[in-house]
Amino acid sequence: MTRLSAAQRQVQEDFLHQVQDGRLDKPTSEGSGLPNLSYTCADFFRLEQQTLFRNNWIFAGFAHRLVATGDMQPVEVGGQPLVLVKTRETVRAFHNVCRHRGARLVTEGRNAGKLICPNHSWSYSLEGKLIARPHFHGGERHDVNKSDCHRADLVEVRCVTWHDWVFVNISGDADDFESCIEPISAKLEGYDFEALRFTDMLEFELDANWKLAIENFIEPYHVFSCHPWLNGFVGMDEREAPGFDGKVLSCGYHFKAADPARGGELPWFPDLPADKQNRGDWFVLFPNFAFEIFPDQVDVFVAWPQAPDKCRETIALYFVGDGATAERYSAARAHVIQNWNDLNHEDIGVVERMQSGRNSEGFDGGVLSPYWDPVLQQFARLLTDAVSEDTVTAT
Ligand code: FES
Ligand SMILES: [Fe+2]
Repeated sequence: MTRLSAAQRQVQEDFLHQVQDGRLDKPTSEGSGLPNLSYTCADFFRLEQQTLFRNNWIFAGFAHRLVATGDMQPVEVGGQPLVLVKTRETVRAFHNVCRHRGARLVTEGRNAGKLICPNHSWSYSLEGKLIARPHFHGGERHDVNKSDCHRADLVEVRCVTWHDWVFVNISGDADDFESCIEPISAKLEGYDFEALRFTDMLEFELDANWKLAIENFIEPYHVFSCHPWLNGFVGMDEREAPGFDGKVLSCGYHFKAADPARGGELPWFPDLPADKQNRGDWFVLFPNFAFEIFPDQVDVFVAWPQAPDKCRETIALYFVGDGATAERYSAARAHVIQNWNDLNHEDIGVVERMQSGRNSEGFDGGVLSPYWDPVLQQFARLLTDAVSEDTVTAT
């Protein structure tokens, strides 16, 4: 068990004291969101990394980068260096550290038949088993005692692949992934995910806490004010309020007419049921993985924590069938990609403003809209539960 540090314990206590004013449980119109320190304090950031990001299923990488047996990707989750490895059967995750003297094993994406530490050339199979320790017992006296090797096998981390998305649970304690996404399953019925192809990736650096990016993603209240095109596509009076079910936050709308950026020019999912046509839905899998689904595309949005006031965003775009690759659709794809780029820049402006506002003593959680913002209270409750954990289980 890894104990929280004294500084983490102190900030945890301060945080819990601040949210004990009922802000999370009162009706939204009387409640509030998360206090400022959760967006600005370095100790709180470390507390989140140690609890929330280790005890939950956390997005770690894209399966399309792990296709051939031996493909490897180093990633970092909850402050821990991990490596994702494609074995013959599946994608597995390990702590990315050699069991001998702790050298990081994999520092860039690559393909290899085994993992070899550059320090003293201990090697590990793709399944994480130690397979060789050269000169272990002296010059030319290599390790041959296989029964003792398991002590030095790589430390495995729980890992699941769902569509193109690889999730890890470092503590090993999270509920089954299937039960976590159960609230989504019914809403995704009728979309043939087999028809999707990864197409493009957009990356952004933000001077803002990751939570502000996710909160902004799920609430559509800002659309009329920040996104002129999006507001023209679906006006405020046609927008549904966001909802939630456990760790899944969701929102959606019907649109009257398709647009080149949304279902207008690219092929749709085959045999799409009537209730999914002219419809968009979006979801957050708490804490920081989100996606939108439309008749012609799926767009993944991840906010990667970097520091209390910094995050990185990845938007991955997937189109349907020929829409992903055929030359005749290249202009249509470019239009959708440019639209996402423009929309996200419109968001970054307000997200960074909210970050700077979190330094103000005139603000500490906000006055919320009873219609649009209950989802933000739920996000705050989930975050509070997650950082209230006492310890994190080391694997
Ligand atoms: S540190 Fe990896 S083999 Fe020695
Ligand atoms: Fe937005």
